[in-house]
Order: sequence, then C-alpha cells, then structure tokens
Amino acid sequence: MTDGGQGGDAAAGPAGRDAPAPGTVPPAPVVTQARRPDDAVPRQLRGFLALDDFEPAARRRLPRQIYGYYAGAAETNQSRDQNRDAFRRIAFVPDTLRDVSRRSTAATLFGERHRFPFGIAPMGLSGLSCFEGDLVLARAARAEGVPMAVSATSIMPLERVAAEGGARWFQAYLPGEPARILAMVDRVERAGFDTLVLTVDVPVPGNRENNVRTGFSIPLRPSLKLLADGAAHPRWSLGTFARTLRAGMPHMENMDARRGPPILSRDLVRAVGKRDGLSWDHVELIRRRWRGRFILKGVLAPGDAREAEARGVDAVWVSNHGGRQLDGALAPLHALPAVKAAAGSMAVLFDSGVRRGSDVLKALALGADFVFLGRPFLFAAAAAGEGGVRHAMGLLGAEVDRNMAMLGVNAVGEVARRHVCDAHPPPGPG
Ligand code: FNR
Repeated sequence: MTDGGQGGDAAAGPAGRDAPAPGTVPPAPVVTQARRPDDAVPRQLRGFLALDDFEPAARRRLPRQIYGYYAGAAETNQSRDQNRDAFRRIAFVPDTLRDVSRRSTAATLFGERHRFPFGIAPMGLSGLSCFEGDLVLARAARAEGVPMAVSATSIMPLERVAAEGGARWFQAYLPGEPARILAMVDRVERAGFDTLVLTVDVPVPGNRENNVRTGFSIPLRPSLKLLADGAAHPRWSLGTFARTLRAGMPHMENMDARRGPPILSRDLVRAVGKRDGLSWDHVELIRRRWRGRFILKGVLAPGDAREAEARGVDAVWVSNHGGRQLDGALAPLHALPAVKAAAGSMAVLFDSGVRRGSDVLKALALGADFVFLGRPFLFAAAAAGEGGVRHAMGLLGAEVDRNMAMLGVNAVGEVARRHVCDAHPPPGPG
C-alpha cells in the first residue's frame, strides 16, 4: 500500500491565495481535478510520472545543439546546480489534523484566478522544441488555466501567439534607447497583451561555453556537425525543422517593434542592439507609457525591489535566469525572504530550479505569490507536444495538491513561513 494511496482528485475551496478568514465557514467547494484519473492519460504519456522524466525523452528527440542550448547554463553551472540544491536545504514543518478536504490549488494573481499557482516562464527559441513550440506552450497554458509569457527571442510573432494561443503576457528584452523602447511597448499593447515582463538580468548575454562546445550559436551557423546531428534526429529534422522552414526562414520576431533578421543572419547581433545601457530611467519611461501590469524579471537584491516599487512596478520576478546568466548568482529561493520583505505592495514571482510540487510550496512559504518553470515545460513540449505540456502541468498540480494536504492547508494562500525551516540546522548548544 502506498502512503495515503494514489487517488485524490482535489475537492477544493475557491479561495486561491485568499484563504477563508479563521472561524468563517468557507463557501461550497469547487472541484479542481488537479490530478486526472489514470485512464484519462493517453497511453504514450503514462510513463511520465514526474517532470524530470521529460528531459531524457527530449534529449533523445532533439539534436545535441538544441538540447544543449535548452538544458545548459553559464560557465561552471554553479548557479543552475545551486538552484536545485537550495530546495534540498529547506524542509517542511507540516500541520496535522486540519481537515484538508476542501483544498484548492487555485491561486489569484493580479485579481485573476488561475487553476494552479504556477505558469510557464518565457523561453527563447521555444519554436525549435517542436513544431510551433510557442503556440504549443501557449495553448497548453490556456487549456490548463495558467499564465505563459511569450519570449522576446521567439521565432513566432507575438501577435500570433496572442491571437492563436491566447497568450496575455509578453517578456521584452529592451535596449537603452527610448524610441525603440516606446515603439516596442506600443506594439505589445496593440497585440492585446495585458502584462509586460521586462527582463533585467541580461545587460549582456551570459557566457554559455556549452553552446560553443556543441556548435550552437545565434545566429545559427550551418555546419557539417549540425547537418550530421540533424540527420541523426530525423523525427525532429522533418517534424519540426523542415516543417518550420516550409513557412519560410525563421526570424527573430519579437526583439523590436519591427521584425528582426533571420536566425541565420550575421546582422542579428547588430539588430538586437546593445542592452547594457538599460537603466531605472527606462523603467520609468515604460511605466509612464504602459497601462497594463508591469513586471521586472531577474531581481535578486532587496534594494532593486524597493527601486521597482518606487517607480510603480506591479511585481518583481525573483530569478537568476535558471543559472544561464551570472554564474555564481544567488539561488533565487535564498533571495526570496529578503525581496519579499522589501517588495511592499508588489507581487513577488519566482523561478529557477522548480521541478516538484514540493518546490512550488517551498517558494510560496518563503514569500512567492506565484511560481514559474522553464526547462521542464520545454522538455515536455519536445517529448510530447501540447499533450505533454498539459500532462506535465497535471503532474505538478497533483503534487501541489497532495503536498498541500500533507502540509495541512486548504488554500495556497495558507502556505506560510512556519511551514518550512532549515533542513540542516546547526547543532544546538549541548
Ligand atoms: C530561458 N529564460 C529566458 N528568460 C527570459 O526572460 N527571456 C528569454 O528569452 C529566456 N530564454 C530562455 C531560453 C531557455 C531555453 C531557457 C531554459 C530559459 C529563462 C527562463 O525564463 C527562466 O528564468 C528559467 O528557465 C527558470 O529556470 P528553470 O525553471 O529552467 O530551472
């Protein structure tokens, strides 16, 4: 027998992060169905029991260069590895006998209710994970009722991901040039996005030696190595790459107000522009122009959270880019409590290293209002398309639901600081 059994579609309260006040009777429960019954999962997906199961499948499906770009990090991988280690250093302190039969995995962010407290982080070149990968991610997110951010370095125009995938969040990389910034912000607004994420931890690209070693580069440089690897992965070459090329050479679509150059073009670096001049003045400029929600992604310092709040930013997204930028940057989980304390009325979003429902709950306990994941959803798209991404979300949602029960909470908003502690406390006196 397994501990507590495998079943347990969640019977849920409607609270999201708004837990019922103590002593009040919560309204009638809403069933969230965090976990699908096993017979509702297509046979080809049944072997994927946890998010980490998608990575080996994606690795087999993708050419080495593409897999390496997705999985890789900067320099020594110190930050990427420490992102995972940070979760192991935190332990749960569960409450018992709390009647958790009315629990819900729903979470409210910016007044909007989502089915789960997690979403899909922006990822460049998602369109090479599977055919129309950006749309695949967006449709899966829409179907599962969670947010997904379209990346600036996508090969699909943001307008298409909005119109056909229902995406409402756009992530921008902006140069420190007011005219280009304002033109891009206006384009995003015209496309109907309501949330603008400005990524602030890429003043220059990170040092990804693994890309050099595998032969991956932006712009893509055709080589015998690439050709040979493509031939060794015919399913990807025909099903993703050739199908993509049939619609024309992919371009960098969302770096600027106007379409960028093809991904093979040597003009790419020039067209992208310099981003190392971006400053708080530009954040103010954007805030004055952009009427939607405005988020800064890649914040680790409490001082930056204070600066952001002073400029009317709506949320800070605590992240070290999954370890892909400044190698040695603090694991975001360790940065969370101090950023939360400095964030005032802003929401605090979080990513980097989340792989389990327990990780989601640890981040919530340490101050996150909402949690995002990158690589696992990309690997799920590569391994099994939209169904794979939806299955990944179902697995993660089921883990959140199950662990909420064992933690003694009914609503994600009830997850509190007292539910976690240092997993390796220093020895006490005597
Ligand atoms: C990213 N990330 C990223 N972030 C961003 O703001 N704009 C981008 O275009 C990209 N591109 C990108 C590509 C790939 C392949 C990966 C894996 C990541 C970072 C991403 O949004 C997120 O911060 C991390 O992926 C979170 O870490 P995990 O969940 O991958 O560990």
